[in-house]
Amino acid sequence: MLGNFTYVNPTKLYFGENALEHLPEALADYGKRVLLVYGGGSIKKNGIYDKVVSLLQKAGKEIVEDGGVMPNPTLAKVYDGCRIARVGNIDFILAVGGGSVCDYSKALSVSIHCEEDPWEKYYLRMEEPSCQIVPVGCVLTMVGTGSEMNGGSVITNTETKLKIGKVFSEKVFPKFSILDPTYTFTLPNYQMVSGFFDIMSHILEQYFSDSDDNTSDYLMEGLLHSLIHSSRIAVKNPLDYEARSNIMWIATWALNTLVAKGKTTDWMVHMIGQSIGAYTNATHGMTLAAVSIPYYRMLLPYGLPKFKRYAINVWGVSAEGKTDMEIAEEGLARMESYMRELGLVMNAKELGVTEDMLDGIAEGSFIMEGGYKTLTKDEIIQILKESMEAVK
Ligand code: NZQ
Ligand code: ZN
Repeated sequence: MLGNFTYVNPTKLYFGENALEHLPEALADYGKRVLLVYGGGSIKKNGIYDKVVSLLQKAGKEIVEDGGVMPNPTLAKVYDGCRIARVGNIDFILAVGGGSVCDYSKALSVSIHCEEDPWEKYYLRMEEPSCQIVPVGCVLTMVGTGSEMNGGSVITNTETKLKIGKVFSEKVFPKFSILDPTYTFTLPNYQMVSGFFDIMSHILEQYFSDSDDNTSDYLMEGLLHSLIHSSRIAVKNPLDYEARSNIMWIATWALNTLVAKGKTTDWMVHMIGQSIGAYTNATHGMTLAAVSIPYYRMLLPYGLPKFKRYAINVWGVSAEGKTDMEIAEEGLARMESYMRELGLVMNAKELGVTEDMLDGIAEGSFIMEGGYKTLTKDEIIQILKESMEAVK
């Protein structure tokens, strides 16, 4: 049954080659002082930085810079960014980068004017902002997280080893996002395929949950078909515009809240993956890849009809002469071989996970109850151990 819901998504998108030309028009309604937020320097190498600065200058904006946002942005960096933004008295935050830069910018947007400690208020107590929110816009350069059209903001506290994702209400969603698929062409292969699996995981973690006859499930099967098809093309030819643009669009739809409507959602792969990230600082999508197959093998008996449907509708498994369990297992086997074909990390050891971390990673994995089964801490440790034994 489709549950009750409210749906709104206020982010305006400018999509396609040269979409950056819309930047002055997108910024027209906002104030003069723009905080330009970016990562470790990729945008300076590939020329995006120069284009953005030139358009901001043409639009008559004053630029305050906040570069050096690291993958898996830290709380310490958020405190630094707040200081820069307050000194610069900024009116708008322009995030130019991947999910880390976008997430960090959202964290700043609700923290600059916050009188309490943002980590305590937003990430531990999961409250909504009660202060002035500084508006954010994004120019996306890495595809996967969906941060360009959602309220998600994942921050790592390196002192307590907790990586927590707060999902803010639509007031914190980016006001606009500029999505030019050609901007993702310079991504290293490791980041590109990691993003592909992040997208797949977002879809699966909303697919494997009740209710089981929901329009969203059909939408997600369509998104998965398109993702599998286009990702196979993109790994062979990363400059294939058609494939890369399809993937950019799939990523946005995978996590802009639409497909979660009227259903429960699982999110355990993300909870375990984020905790691995807190301990190892590994690339987000790879942390998900490393635990997915052991997790779904464990989940399968509790959601057999859906795993059977997944095998048939997504992976084209033939049902003839097979038990439901055989069909479902064949679906997961095809998923695993697709993951290996992309070159994803299947073994958590490759991400730096060691035996002595297992207890802490399991402890730091928030246990969600929306999937077919609520995991125990011991089961999380078992999933991690299976990953560490997986063929590399
Ligand atoms: O920092 P620079 O130099 O820019 O390099 C980045 C970074 O090293 C590089 N990169 C990005 N665009 C590039 C590029 N290199 C060359 N050419 C380009 N065009 O890629 C590296 C990774 O970037 P990052 O932003 O960290 O990747 P991603 O987009 O995967 O973001 C990961 C973060 O998003 C969070 C993750 O937990 C992680 O912290 N997530 C956010 C979500 C949300 N807001 O809803 C949901 C996701 O599940 C995820 O948890
Ligand atoms: Zn993700």
